[in-house]
Amino acid sequence: MQIAIAGGHGKIALILTRLLSDRGDRVVSMVRDPDQAGDVTEAGGEPVVVDLEHSSDDQLDRVLTGCDAVVFAAGAGPGSGAARKESVDYAAAVSLIEAARRTGVRRYVMISASGADPDAAGDEVFAVYLRAKGRADRELASSGLDFTIIKPVGLTDQPGTGQVATNEPSLTGQVSREDVAAVVAEALGRDDSIGATFRMSAGTTPIPDAIGSVS
Ligand SMILES: NC(=O)c1ccc[n+]([C@@H]2O[C@H](COP(=O)([O-])OP(=O)(O)OC[C@H]3O[C@@H](n4cnc5c(N)ncnc54)[C@H](OP(=O)(O)O)[C@@H]3O)[C@@H](O)[C@H]2O)c1
Repeated sequence: MQIAIAGGHGKIALILTRLLSDRGDRVVSMVRDPDQAGDVTEAGGEPVVVDLEHSSDDQLDRVLTGCDAVVFAAGAGPGSGAARKESVDYAAAVSLIEAARRTGVRRYVMISASGADPDAAGDEVFAVYLRAKGRADRELASSGLDFTIIKPVGLTDQPGTGQVATNEPSLTGQVSREDVAAVVAEALGRDDSIGATFRMSAGTTPIPDAIGSVS
């Protein structure tokens, strides 16, 4: 497969790039700082410099043309204000949905967040973030694309275990970025996760079985 990753220098994205390139996929990885290109190359990806908040349709179309799938792994990040939750977590994700539709890329995997909800209450920046992510998820789910929306709980940099929980009663407070990347990689390789939206945390179910249970 040829897979485009938005937010290609992010922590999950770099782990995912390595997983995908090791199994023979071609990864086209969008970074906004040219100085990040070397890390992407080292992980096995092909860096392309795109600032998702200031990109043109043509620029996105060029990146996505020829791809089989796109993964949205970008995020405004902690410490950013409400405006960037809107311009990255919502608008950049939607720009890529539109570009995927224009260029015929059917598959779109969204790294969302556990509490993402278009109607999340509150005025604080975290609530703005949850609404932005929830609105982007809603647009993806109604886009007609072959989507999977993955909603992890809080992320850690602990080593992955290869085991997660995707069933509501067994969700815990945290999950490692390595396990999230492994879930994205597994979902990309399987059609049975198309149309699924699910929360995930650390857990005790092997990732292939966990993906099977959401489909
Ligand atoms: N933190 C949590 O506990 C948590 C929980 C659930 C879900 N999530 C979601 O998980 C996803 C990935 O998490 P992570 O820890 O891997 O994120 P991360 O390391 O912060 O990576 C996000 C990436 O997005 C990039 N980005 C930001 N603005 C951009 C722009 N305008 N154009 C291009 N790229 C841009 C960043 O680039 P720069 O390096 O240039 O800033 C960064 O490389 C995010 O969507 C986040 O919302 C997070």
